Amino acid sequence: MQILVTGAAGYIGSHACQRLLADGHHVVGLDNLHRGHITPMNLLAQQHPDRFTFIQSDLGDTPTVLAALNEHRIDTVLHFGALAYVGESVEDPLWYYRNNIASAIGLLDACDAAHDAKGITRFIFSSSCATYGDLPDDRIPVAEDAPQNPTSPYGYTKLHFEHILRDYATKRQRENNPIALTMLRYFNVAGSDRSGLLGEDHTPETHLIPVALNTALGKRESMSIFGTDYPTPDGTNIRDYVHVEDLIDAHVRAMNTIEIGQVEAFNVGIGKGYSVREILDSVKRVSGVDFPVLEGDRRAGDAIALYNDPTKIKSALGWDAQVTDIDEVVASAWAWFKANPNGYDD
Ligand SMILES: NC(=O)c1ccc[n+]([C@@H]2O[C@H](COP(=O)([O-])OP(=O)(O)OC[C@H]3O[C@@H](n4cnc5c(N)ncnc54)[C@H](O)[C@@H]3O)[C@@H](O)[C@H]2O)c1
Repeated sequence: MQILVTGAAGYIGSHACQRLLADGHHVVGLDNLHRGHITPMNLLAQQHPDRFTFIQSDLGDTPTVLAALNEHRIDTVLHFGALAYVGESVEDPLWYYRNNIASAIGLLDACDAAHDAKGITRFIFSSSCATYGDLPDDRIPVAEDAPQNPTSPYGYTKLHFEHILRDYATKRQRENNPIALTMLRYFNVAGSDRSGLLGEDHTPETHLIPVALNTALGKRESMSIFGTDYPTPDGTNIRDYVHVEDLIDAHVRAMNTIEIGQVEAFNVGIGKGYSVREILDSVKRVSGVDFPVLEGDRRAGDAIALYNDPTKIKSALGWDAQVTDIDEVVASAWAWFKANPNGYDD
């Protein structure tokens, strides 16, 4: 297949490019490099000079995206490119709506106009469990039919774009030119490619495992737990951590399984939660470093426990997480952090 990966220079997008190239596809990676890194793009281009192209462009630059879709005869788009921090989205919601919705509509315009207005064939969107917001206890584990009431602008950008995509798929159906549309609502994505080439390097970094690994590396003096009095066995929040390679495998299965004309949403998470303390214990165990952890107050808006009910994705896509042991997830991330203590060069 000929595949466009948006957000290719980011953490998850770069891992997606790597898997798709390993599977023999032709891949065009697109990123404005606002948050991503050119280094993983260069590494992948060196490994696959004939099948990988990187284009530095914004999603919203419709002429550039359209030219790329036509020139590379792209049939499938995996859309990872987005701003992805809840806190930042609360501070500057218009920036988030402009980037994650307005620019992404620019991408959709190009997808619609490509191939002499026949359009692309498959679209897979990185949505988020943040679209569910606060759920009552009887909705945990979270199934796809749980109510979607986001608690942040970030969550709303993901939910709104799901609606926009559904409307676009309906238009294509009406024109007798249907599209295969999959929305994957990720839980917490973690770990790194186990060949050691790619890693997770976010600036700013707010994800629990990388923050803990940076503390283990001595790049931070200490780290904080936000809330130790939650009604959970050890008092800290519980989240579902899916290994990045398993997450990408869900995309590959969706690409191969969801048929033209189908519109589907799946949660992607292992179906089991780990508490913040369990994660920190794992990081200390795997790294062999006992770093200071401060106990702070709860953060507004943090759900107590959030983990997936994987029934639907298991039965429809035959997907099941291969990595469920948190030490294995952390070990893959730690290997890259140790080898690249300052992250990517560029
Ligand atoms: N990391 C997680 O745990 C998680 C959980 C749920 C959903 N997601 C979603 O997965 C996707 C990838 O997340 P990530 O952790 O790899 O983030 P990331 O920041 O590492 O990667 C996102 C990439 O998109 C690029 N980008 C953003 N806006 C763009 C634009 N307008 N034009 C071109 N490029 C643009 C950035 O430069 C960056 O390289 C996002 O859509 C995110 O919302 C991530």
